[in-house]
Amino acid sequence: MLVILKRDDQEISRQAAQLIASAVRKNPALTLGLATGGTMIGVYRHLVALHKQGSLDFSRVVTFNLDEYLGLPAEHPRSFHHFMQENLFAHVNVDPRNIHIPDGTIRGNYDQYCASYEEAIRKAGGIDVQLLGIGRNGHIGFNEPTSSIGSRTRLKVLSQETLDDNSKFFAPGEESPEESPRCAITMGIGTILETRKILLLATGAGKSAAVANSIEGPVTSAVSASALQLHPDVTFIIDDAAASQLTQRDYYLRVLEMTALLTPDRLS
Ligand code: F6R
Repeated sequence: MLVILKRDDQEISRQAAQLIASAVRKNPALTLGLATGGTMIGVYRHLVALHKQGSLDFSRVVTFNLDEYLGLPAEHPRSFHHFMQENLFAHVNVDPRNIHIPDGTIRGNYDQYCASYEEAIRKAGGIDVQLLGIGRNGHIGFNEPTSSIGSRTRLKVLSQETLDDNSKFFAPGEESPEESPRCAITMGIGTILETRKILLLATGAGKSAAVANSIEGPVTSAVSASALQLHPDVTFIIDDAAASQLTQRDYYLRVLEMTALLTPDRLS
């Protein structure tokens, strides 16, 4: 694992966008795994800026989002479909036919639908670069604690911690008076582990325990992101606050220095 330590959210967004942009420039038909959430907003802002400057072409890029709330239609202001439109897709030249986000409105045969999402990933040749955030409880996608490390795309019940974190976005009285969704469709940990390269971003002290457990703790289904230790190409991009519980910080800084000297491609 490569741990890139940055000062703040701005630097993290810039670094992640730069890595994604170079991957797209190297392979214009890249298959990109995308995440939603507050941590991603800055990354998408940078990608949009690069596109508007004329230095980033999404016309052949294929995207797969990690997850969507069950019960929310695409046009719902809190849906991940809506988030992606607002923050990225509406501002770049990605072909709508190349966009894949789990459908939150499916009913009934969830297994069949989720298998078809997996099949679409396979047909696209697999995901080249996967962007991940992390929950305070260590979730990646909506793989809540105790998710199987081999899990695939499926219906998942959200944990109380995630419901609490989300409740602020679903407050009664605003445009979405319904209750917070209690379930989601999410790619599994096994699905994520099959992607070729992973970038996990985390900011803020609230994520520091999850980050430390994922990087330095045992591989355990109690912390879904710890399964990333089994992946051959993971880069954590984290700010000082999110890094505050790591015990091997000096070592990660030395690795970064040597990486810049010996394999600078991993950083740009
Ligand atoms: C969203 C997703 C989640 C978020 C995580 C962090 O698509 O997969 O795992 O990445 O909950 O969310 P923020 O960035 O809002 O703290």
